Amino acid sequence: MAFLINSALNKSAYRIVAIPGSGIGLEVVPAALTILHQVGKLEGFTLTVDYGYLGAKALEKFGSNFPQETVQLCEGADGIVFGAVSQGGLLELRQHFDFFINLRPIRSENSLLHTSSLRPEKVKDLDILIVRELVSGIYFGNAGRDSDDQGDYGYHTMHYSDREIRRIAQVALQKAQQRRGLLTVAHKENALPHIPWTRLVEEEAKEFPAVKVIPMLVDNLAMQMVLNPQQFDVILAGNMFGDILSDLGGALVGSIGLLGSASLNEQGFGLYEAIHGTAPDIAGKGIANPLGTIGACVLMLQQWGETKAAQRIITAQKRLLAKGYRTADLSPAEGELYVNTATLVDLLLSEIQK
Ligand code: IPM
Ligand code: MG
Repeated sequence: MAFLINSALNKSAYRIVAIPGSGIGLEVVPAALTILHQVGKLEGFTLTVDYGYLGAKALEKFGSNFPQETVQLCEGADGIVFGAVSQGGLLELRQHFDFFINLRPIRSENSLLHTSSLRPEKVKDLDILIVRELVSGIYFGNAGRDSDDQGDYGYHTMHYSDREIRRIAQVALQKAQQRRGLLTVAHKENALPHIPWTRLVEEEAKEFPAVKVIPMLVDNLAMQMVLNPQQFDVILAGNMFGDILSDLGGALVGSIGLLGSASLNEQGFGLYEAIHGTAPDIAGKGIANPLGTIGACVLMLQQWGETKAAQRIITAQKRLLAKGYRTADLSPAEGELYVNTATLVDLLLSEIQK
């Protein structure tokens, strides 16, 4: 089975659906769109943006946090740029379009090594790709509340078909093959033996002889990520473990606000979002870091085959950070320059032209 995970559209006009959601989603999505329009101009493509609703806003407008209107808007689009929601809708959207591939790159930036939770030498040149299964596992298993003679109780069931594990394993193996050839598989088989990630991935790996598969208990893996993150290349994880490990990645690179992700289906259609949430504590203040969502848009451009546009943003961002510009989440130190969202976008716009 081959997955078309690089759809390489290379068109002159793209249509995307922007779903800002709520909280800082309302600030970082417009920021990212400004950047996208600009690179489009420079690289010769246009972007049409339709706005969609999900979560609390959608509930207000359409009476459902996952409205049919939003689904229809997304159908036939070239990508979905997503902000954050606090109240439902996102899991349904992921499941509806079968976005089972969640790619979460964790790369350190040289000029930000001192903002890491670890010593700079531990994270220098860090380059991990977390491949997270996104439409199954405990998020989507049988769940509910009930009561018995002990009183009320709740349950969520971790359910994984072998097929679901095999298909995400193939993606992770492909990615590892294109990178440094190392695939660490997060599992918890000492407690959850009926979901045999190790065996299934190893079976799939027979078709990828160049990839070394290293099964690792997820609790140990979390510790290893903190002790020696440079040992990892690609990490494959189920839905919940991948969620937890990717936040840890945020601490390694200095701020969760820096990390973007791509959620793709078998056709290469995708949803692009930062891995952070709505951040209610800073929402509405205009100080959110848009680089996570912009990073997600870079992944979208790469998925489209717009590599030059993607590279423009990557290079511009590198230069900007090297000059010392920092949003609040990066705790600007002495000699660094504090900027809010709008200023960061302006600076990025002018770097991108260069
Ligand atoms: C993420 C988020 C989501 C998840 C929440 C908002 C449901 O934490 O994308 O990492 O757990 O998948
Ligand atoms: Mg998360």
